[in-house]
Amino acid sequence: MSDPKVVLVTGTSRGIGRELARLLAAKGCRVFAGQRSGTGPAGTETLVLDVSDAASVAAAAARVREAAGHLDVLVNNAGILLDEGVPMLEVDEADFRRTLEANTLGPWRVAKAFVPLMGRGGRIVNVSSSGGQLASMGGWVAPSYNTSKTALNAITLQLAAALKGRGIAVNSMCPGWVATDMGGASAPKTPAQGSDTALWLALEAPTSLTGKFLQDRREIPW
Ligand SMILES: NC(=O)c1ccc[n+]([C@@H]2O[C@H](COP(=O)([O-])OP(=O)(O)OC[C@H]3O[C@@H](n4cnc5c(N)ncnc54)[C@H](OP(=O)(O)O)[C@@H]3O)[C@@H](O)[C@H]2O)c1
Repeated sequence: MSDPKVVLVTGTSRGIGRELARLLAAKGCRVFAGQRSGTGPAGTETLVLDVSDAASVAAAAARVREAAGHLDVLVNNAGILLDEGVPMLEVDEADFRRTLEANTLGPWRVAKAFVPLMGRGGRIVNVSSSGGQLASMGGWVAPSYNTSKTALNAITLQLAAALKGRGIAVNSMCPGWVATDMGGASAPKTPAQGSDTALWLALEAPTSLTGKFLQDRREIPW
């Protein structure tokens, strides 16, 4: 029997990240549940991690190195939505900065700290949003969030190019509209349904699949 895959999911205190961490653990992975506070879901190892804080990210990487020695899969799930419905010219600058810190620089910072623990066959899954698609920009308005996810998608492509030679696949995915604190109660998808594509990219998708944006396991436009 092969060793369990070592996986890090960020933002596991609630919502999609929590469900995804639980599902990965149920599939036999060794899951580090990265969260700012509280305890990870049953079957996971809680890892204190604030993706907006460089010192916290560095400490988390050191802890995983010490505990597991390597990482197979990184899921950058943590994210914030502060400006739904706010017109572009009325966005608060501090909110814009906070959003970019968490949703854009956060995944880049975490990848930078954890890629040294990853080898061939490694996978990075960036939980993005169709709200970041340039193809439909301006439809659903949350200006700093939309912009942060477009930039996250650019980071996905940059990382995919940078890591192709090292055999590490990097993709963005959109979970769809999911009933969480962020998505609200009327969203049609459950957190388990919203986790499906990330779970597939984390464990099952061909590792030749890299530099793509997916929803429901299918490629979607940037
Ligand atoms: N729900 C949807 O319909 C939907 C649609 C498209 C994309 N998404 C994306 O899916 C991901 C998860 O969303 P969700 O619906 O599960 O949201 P959620 O219920 O609001 O949960 C967000 C999670 O991210 C964590 N987080 C926020 N900032 C963080 C930071 N600086 N460091 C570490 N963790 C942090 C939160 O932790 P705390 O408890 O500490 O705040 C929480 O665990 C996000 O990237 C979101 O943009 C969601």
